[in-house]
Amino acid sequence: MTTNTTPARLARAAPRPRVHFAPRRNWMNDPNGLVHHDGIHHLFFQYNPEGTDWGNMSWGHATSEDLVTWTEHEVALRYDDDAQIFSGSIVSDVANTSGFGTDGRGPLVALYTAAAEHGQSQALAWSPDDGATWTKYGVVLDRGTADFRDPKVFRHEDAWIMVTVEAVDRQIHLYRSEDLRSWHHLSVFGPEGPTEGVWECPDLFALDGAWVLTLSVNPGHPTGGSGMLAFVGDFDGVRFTADRWHWLDHGSDYYAGVTFSGLDRPVMMAWLNNWAYAHELPEATWRGSMALPRLLSLRDGRVIQQPAVAPAEVLRFSASDVALDEEGWELPEEGLQTATRLRLTLVPGDDVVEISLRGRGQVTALPEIRLTYAAGQVTLERDGSDMLPGLDAFSTVARTEVALTDHGTLDVEIWIDADSVEVFAAAGAVTLSVLTLADYGRQQLVVRGRGDGHAVLSEIRAAELLSGVGAAAGATRG
Ligand code: FRU
Repeated sequence: MTTNTTPARLARAAPRPRVHFAPRRNWMNDPNGLVHHDGIHHLFFQYNPEGTDWGNMSWGHATSEDLVTWTEHEVALRYDDDAQIFSGSIVSDVANTSGFGTDGRGPLVALYTAAAEHGQSQALAWSPDDGATWTKYGVVLDRGTADFRDPKVFRHEDAWIMVTVEAVDRQIHLYRSEDLRSWHHLSVFGPEGPTEGVWECPDLFALDGAWVLTLSVNPGHPTGGSGMLAFVGDFDGVRFTADRWHWLDHGSDYYAGVTFSGLDRPVMMAWLNNWAYAHELPEATWRGSMALPRLLSLRDGRVIQQPAVAPAEVLRFSASDVALDEEGWELPEEGLQTATRLRLTLVPGDDVVEISLRGRGQVTALPEIRLTYAAGQVTLERDGSDMLPGLDAFSTVARTEVALTDHGTLDVEIWIDADSVEVFAAAGAVTLSVLTLADYGRQQLVVRGRGDGHAVLSEIRAAELLSGVGAAAGATRG
């Protein structure tokens, strides 16, 4: 295997993602304070203003109208001698229930975790000017414990509800408030479902007649390391009860996702990474990017995810009715640009269809992403074995299988950006997000059929994604 692909070489070559958010410089992890306010989407994020490693945690800030093109702003909330600023959320307090508003205008109110030496508590900060400047008010909820964090606040009936975790206990604690300052304990959920890892970054929202509690767990995801899950159930204003749960994303790089406040329908953003190797990945001037924002819905008791963005695009290649054999059909080079969205319709017959994305020539040491489909089962793999010296956790084969109720034609969307691939299959029932560390402009996509030779690629369309916005944008405006 070719191994001139060192972390240092990759870092130098690192192309910036075109349709995913990445900070201009320094370390980033979780999205925080997602709020749609006065027609603008605000993204705050776990940020080290001083370096490309985790530390000095503060909230970075970026805004976007369309969730594709982002403008980065000054650090919004900076760590101080007392505490680091861990994850949390923002609400627009239109009715000024908190009393921080001025001139008849409700403030934006942030609830975040103050992470101090002696423990973690929930603190409040507010902004009178639409998120441009912030004033720390102080701690509003303290249980005197070490791992109590990640408050997500939403409006429910005539009160505010806060969802938090006792991370190590694998428990969700729900609180209620009238004014965002004084909080009363409502109930506890968990441990339940996957409990191998700590529980972090919860969210709770109504979705198509049910209630969904999403969580990030570290470790315990089927591909190894950290990942997200969804409990589907009911919330009666006090207590959440779960009927079932499932993993939210089947790839190895989808974590700490939460939904925007202030949109009509839940749109989730997550960190495109995994704590198992986030610290080891090659660093450019920046380190970390977000996954595509996703519009959520519910079908057959599962959370369905569709991209909530519509970047401007140029169709580079299309074909139909391609018969598939073992040797495979290769997408012509113009079909794979640095940022590309592929739409494929697979008709497997009794065969297995395999889609393989891998490096050309010198970069064959980069991982191969394989997606296979047969008889109602999708298998997704990132095979990065021996890929990078010193990146053992990234290099292990990550493999997941997902059963589908449907055995016939499968529609697959593959979003390829500078260093990542996100797959949306079966109309959003199956998603897979993975970092590839590759510039897929130099990659190769092959579609194969294994079996009696009856599999067909009935349609493929490859569009280059530009960093601006296409005509269909605006779908996510609340
Ligand atoms: C999740 C997390 C949160 C915490 C933050 C610290 O990735 O561990 O629980 O608030 O990151 O950066």
